[in-house]
Amino acid sequence: MNVPETYQRCILNTARRSLVLARGEGAKVWDADGREYLDLGGGIAVNCLGHAHPDMLRALSEQAGRLIHTSNFYYSEPAARLAERLVGFMGGSGKIFFTNSGAESNECILKVARKAGNATGRYEIITALNSFHGRTFAGIAATGQEKMKQGFEPMLPGFVHVPYNDLAAVEAALTPRTIAVMIEGIQGEGGITPASAEYLLGLRKLTRERGMLLLFDAVQCGHFRTGCYQSYMRTLEGVSGGGDFRPDALSMAKSLGGGFPMGAAWISDEFAPLMGPGSHNTTYGGGPLAGAAGNVVLDVIERDGLVANIRARGEQLLTGLRPLIGRSGIVAVRGFGGMIGVVFEDERAGDVVKKLAEAGLVLVAAGTKVIRFLPPLNVTAAEIDRGLEIFSGAV
Ligand SMILES: Cc1ncc(COP(=O)(O)O)c(C=O)c1O
Repeated sequence: MNVPETYQRCILNTARRSLVLARGEGAKVWDADGREYLDLGGGIAVNCLGHAHPDMLRALSEQAGRLIHTSNFYYSEPAARLAERLVGFMGGSGKIFFTNSGAESNECILKVARKAGNATGRYEIITALNSFHGRTFAGIAATGQEKMKQGFEPMLPGFVHVPYNDLAAVEAALTPRTIAVMIEGIQGEGGITPASAEYLLGLRKLTRERGMLLLFDAVQCGHFRTGCYQSYMRTLEGVSGGGDFRPDALSMAKSLGGGFPMGAAWISDEFAPLMGPGSHNTTYGGGPLAGAAGNVVLDVIERDGLVANIRARGEQLLTGLRPLIGRSGIVAVRGFGGMIGVVFEDERAGDVVKKLAEAGLVLVAAGTKVIRFLPPLNVTAAEIDRGLEIFSGAV
C-alpha cells in the first residue's frame, strides 16, 4: 500500500505529515523502509516511556485480557488507583475527572469555571496570547492564536487574551464578569516559553483576591516532563511562598498515558462539588485500559528514577545547545527538563525539522520559529549526545 497516497484519498488533510513510521523501541523509530531514526520528539510530549516499553506492553495486554471497557456506569479498580495517585501528587486533596484527550480535559476545567460564575453572571476567562488549549470549540476560543479560530466564527463567547508573563495585562483585562485565568505553565505549541515565578505567584494572589479561579493547562508541560510532577513545582522550587502554590483546577493528558490516549482534570476540593451527577461525562474516560496505562507509567517513572533522569538529560541538552546560539540563525534556547525549545530568528522551523529527519533525528516544530526537544523521560545520556551531534550537524 502507498500510505501517503491513501491518506490523500481517504483521510482529512488537516496535518502536514512526513515519515511513514512502522515500529519503535525506546527512543528509536523505524520507517516503512527499515530506516532508523532517533525520536526525541516523543510523539509531541506523549511517549514518556519511549516506544514499546515492556512494562507498558505487559500492563496493557494483561488488562485487555481481563476487561477493556465498561462505561461510566461502573466502578473500575485501575482508575481508582490512578486517581488516588494523582490526587496524592496534588497534595492529597481535590478530585479527578478522567477524559480521553487534552482538549477534553480543558473542556472540563472550563466548565468548572463557568459553573462557578454562573449564579453571579461571571463567565469571562482570561487566557494568554500564543497559548494553545486544543481544537474543540472551547479549546479554540481559549487559544490565544487567531489562526486556530479562522473560519470557525462565531467563537464561544467570554474569552479574552492578554500577553503571557504579564501580570499587569491580566489586571487591566479584568471586568466584573471575569471568573478565571487560564495559563500553561510552559507554553508548548507557542514556542516553549516558561512562566516566571513572579507571574505564577502574582496570578495566584490576584485570582484569590478577586474570587476567581486559576486554571492550569498542564497537558504538555505536566506529568514529570520538567523534572517535577507539575512545571510550576519546578519553577517555584526554592522560591519564597512557592510551596503553597496550587491552582484551582488543572488539565492533563499526553504523558499521563504514555501513548495510550487519555486525559484527566484535577479540581480542588473547593470547586469539585460544583460538578455533581449529570453535570459532565464521557463514555470512555477512566476506562480499565486507560487506568492500567496511567498506573504503569507512574510505576516505571518511580521504579526507574526517571524524574532525576529527565532533569539531568535536560541539563545535558541545554549545555549542548547553548553554544549554538548566534550560529545558524539560532537566537535562544529555553525550557528545562524534557521540554527544551531552540528558537530561530526566522520562520525556518518546518524546514529544519525536515532536514533533521533526513539526518535521522525526529523533532517537533512549535509554530514557525521554534523546534522542540520532547524526549521520553527514560532517554539515555548517549541518546541525547547523539541527538545533539545530529542537530548541530544539520543546522
Ligand atoms: C497545552 C496543550 N493543551 C491542550 C492540548 C490539546 O491536547 P489534545 O491534542 O490531546 O486534545 C495540547 C496539545 O498539544 C497542548 O499542548
